[in-house]
Amino acid sequence: MPVSRRGSGSIVLPSGVTMAIHTRTHDEEDLPHATKKTMADHLRKYESLFTLTPQRMRMIVDAFRETLELGLAKPKQTVPMIPTFVFGWPNGQEVGDLLAVDLGGTNLRVCLVTLQGEGKFEITQTKYRLTEEQKQEDGQKLFDFCAECLKTFVETHLADEASGLKLQPGEKLPLGFTFSYPCSQERIDHGELIRWTKGFGAANTEGQDVAEMFRKSLAKYDLPVELTALINDTTGTLIASHYVNPKTKIAVIFGTGCNAAYMENVGAIPKIKNLGIDDDASMAINCEWGAFDSFEHEHLPRTKYDVIVDESSNKPGEQAFEKLISGRYLGEILRLVICELIDEGVLFLGQNTYKLEVPYVLDTAFLSLMESDPTDELLMIIGIFTHFFAVETTLAERQFFRALAKLIGRRAARLSACGIAAIVSKMDYLEEGCLVGADGSLYNKYPGFADRVHEGLVDIFGDKGRNIVTHHAEDGSGVGSAIIAAMTKTRKAAGLYANV
Ligand code: GLC
Repeated sequence: MPVSRRGSGSIVLPSGVTMAIHTRTHDEEDLPHATKKTMADHLRKYESLFTLTPQRMRMIVDAFRETLELGLAKPKQTVPMIPTFVFGWPNGQEVGDLLAVDLGGTNLRVCLVTLQGEGKFEITQTKYRLTEEQKQEDGQKLFDFCAECLKTFVETHLADEASGLKLQPGEKLPLGFTFSYPCSQERIDHGELIRWTKGFGAANTEGQDVAEMFRKSLAKYDLPVELTALINDTTGTLIASHYVNPKTKIAVIFGTGCNAAYMENVGAIPKIKNLGIDDDASMAINCEWGAFDSFEHEHLPRTKYDVIVDESSNKPGEQAFEKLISGRYLGEILRLVICELIDEGVLFLGQNTYKLEVPYVLDTAFLSLMESDPTDELLMIIGIFTHFFAVETTLAERQFFRALAKLIGRRAARLSACGIAAIVSKMDYLEEGCLVGADGSLYNKYPGFADRVHEGLVDIFGDKGRNIVTHHAEDGSGVGSAIIAAMTKTRKAAGLYANV
């Protein structure tokens, strides 16, 4: 009889539910499992594939910086460096009730934000989960759904005396629309969708003005709102983080997608010279850096697993940087490595592995859980593999999975550091230092992610890299959107660049 041990514990699943596990872990003779030695040999191979040396990182930073400059110089570049028409920083005195609709990668959120000035605010919000169909169906239908949710939200709050939301007859509430996809903007309340990212594919939307499409939906539902600003989540995060901490100069989202925004001098954006905006003015730039190295694949170290993720995605060739970093893809990269070892007969011989063979079943949240498993037996990892994929694992295999998750998560953080370093070096922020407002599930939930970004910055810049510090950002897509709507109202009322 094989010897067996019992393990027990509990894990919190990505859905938030706590699952108790009582598991027997078998010794190797029970099933033909891989041995500790073979797993260590395999791990060495993956270490060399997924590890980024400081020298390689510096090369990436140089290429990245050139790409950022090219995007500012000429329109329609791969990394589009989108002028957002958000002029300068908030002064902290922005006040009032504003609405924000946030169409992100996973959820739709509707928020009522009360800005109280001096960096203070209150927020009430409702979240709706988007279905896969909604992401792929007709775009106008998607915006209709957003308007319908906003209508329910506004009516509920207007009916509730305590909510503080009141409207004079004929009054319209300013609305910030956070639409976190690359949109090229001619004015702040306009945005032509360049391409869907993050797995969205709704028809009849690419190439269209999404602000206009949403306005149509708002009119259909007869909403007392005025779409004042179309905002990217990174721009919102930049402004909201600066509102509460003025040392913030850059914002990065590490979520389903990955992208950054920062404040640029208008004089350094040659492609908008024709607009006659003062060279000394400042404007936030939505980099859309997820597109770095798309199509050409010249600079980033892609493994064959990354190539498979790319080629089997709905947008092959696109978002090359994002596909190595963001939460949408990390779990899939790990799954592809595991599947390769199953095919080679190294893992799970004699077990039915069909559940692991489905693309995207291995959520990035599992990587977070694997890396944070505090038990010697790695009970959390036992739980994941038995409960979700119906396979048994040995301790050697579990240690291997955890080490692989670490390699993939660490590479993502170090590549992100390269992007941040490119902006820092372009803007010359290294000596004086700056804060980077960061948000998104990877940043907030992946253990050690921020530390690894910081470690990467030191590898790139040496000790001075410590001057660049990331911190958890304020809710950019809600609060940031509202602040930008308020800033825009004030700017236009003052007649400053009122046509954009
Ligand atoms: C994707 C989108 C970008 C967004 C990012 C984070 O990269 O293209 O607009 O900011 O995801 O949500």
